[in-house]
Amino acid sequence: MSTTGQVIKCKAAVAWEPGKPLSIEDIEVFPPKAHEVRIKIGATGVCHTDWEYLYGTGMRSRPFPLVLGHEAAGTVESVGSQVTKFSPGDKVIPLFLPQCEECERCRSPKTNHCRKNWANTQVGVLADGTSRISCQGQQIYQFLGVSSFSQYTVVPDTSLAKIQSDAPLDKVCLLGCGVSTGYGAALNAAKVEKDSSCAVFGLGAVGLAAVMGCQAAGARSIIGVDINPDKFHKAKVFGATVCVNPNDHTKPIQEVLMHMTEGGVDYALECVGSTTVMSAALESTRDAWGVCVVAGWTETESMNVRVEKILMGRTLKGTYFGGWKSVQDVPKLVDKYMNNKMKLDEFITHNLPLDQINVAFDLLSSGESIRTVISLW
Ligand SMILES: NC(=O)c1ccc[n+]([C@@H]2O[C@H](COP(=O)([O-])OP(=O)(O)OC[C@H]3O[C@@H](n4cnc5c(N)ncnc54)[C@H](O)[C@@H]3O)[C@@H](O)[C@H]2O)c1
Ligand SMILES: [Zn+2]
Ligand SMILES: [Zn+2]
Repeated sequence: MSTTGQVIKCKAAVAWEPGKPLSIEDIEVFPPKAHEVRIKIGATGVCHTDWEYLYGTGMRSRPFPLVLGHEAAGTVESVGSQVTKFSPGDKVIPLFLPQCEECERCRSPKTNHCRKNWANTQVGVLADGTSRISCQGQQIYQFLGVSSFSQYTVVPDTSLAKIQSDAPLDKVCLLGCGVSTGYGAALNAAKVEKDSSCAVFGLGAVGLAAVMGCQAAGARSIIGVDINPDKFHKAKVFGATVCVNPNDHTKPIQEVLMHMTEGGVDYALECVGSTTVMSAALESTRDAWGVCVVAGWTETESMNVRVEKILMGRTLKGTYFGGWKSVQDVPKLVDKYMNNKMKLDEFITHNLPLDQINVAFDLLSSGESIRTVISLW
């Protein structure tokens, strides 16, 4: 029976308040309005950013209750009026960073920072100032315009990438955030060059994808840095040439790397979200041309930059979603995976059903998992 135009009753993991585990609830998902698409989510990853919003301290406050989740893949259930690029049945990846293809930023090759619906997305609502999700008669806010810890969600048609029809949702969901971010941090933001030396700080999904990007760019040496040595085996699978645990050294990690590389790495990628690590990453780069890219996410904290470090020719930059123009580039990354030119399966350490999503949060924060993929059905 068609559900088009109907309110859909389904399950979602609701975050009622910060610092408390998610709760599986029966929710209602309203039909898509103009320029919106309702998606049946097939699978979703649990990213460190989801964890950070629920349990962390470095984020601006967002309204609760909300449905988290922003690294997903699914199928279009129905489309609102004026939607021209999507039809029911299309396989899609929802995007926390839109690409409207019309604004000044979308027309510029210099950035992927489209601001379509941005202000509303930051406060948990869609273009008309409301969310499409409710529970027990109460509006539930949407996270980064996505909310994939739900069997159904509604997103703007500028925040959706159509992907090839045979792509496995339980794998390509990772291209909705973590893997694309790390891979692009190396290729698009750092622009790692052949035969260069790189250091990747933090070997979770974002960091491992950065290692994979450094390798794809032809880096000669790739140093993986993590305080959890259990991550080192996997880092080598993705292309790390050597791994270092800062806790094994008495000197600060930047001094260790300076010594190891005789003057610093060409590229350092911060994939932790710690301002201390960000400073260390910058100070690990070679003077004259070293580039430090921050991919780790914190919104309210400041990092310490010794001015001399940048005066001597280093560059510090940040990256959001790896610099990819989301709507156009995500399908290309899916194609790359489908053509065996990019790893994805290796990031997945656990698969769990929706009702065990809190276990996925525990596995991530304890460092036991790289990515847990949650199946919604
Ligand atoms: N910029 C973006 O668009 C974007 C997108 C996705 C995620 N992120 C951010 O990227 C970061 C990583 O995400 P993830 O999902 O890979 O997280 P994760 O928790 O899986 O991985 C983080 C890794 O950092 C390691 N680590 C912690 N402290 C460290 C230290 N002092 N030195 C070295 N390593 C340390 C941990 O052991 C872990 O392996 C988070 O801050 C997340 O919010 C940013
Ligand atoms: Zn993410
Ligand atoms: Zn735009």
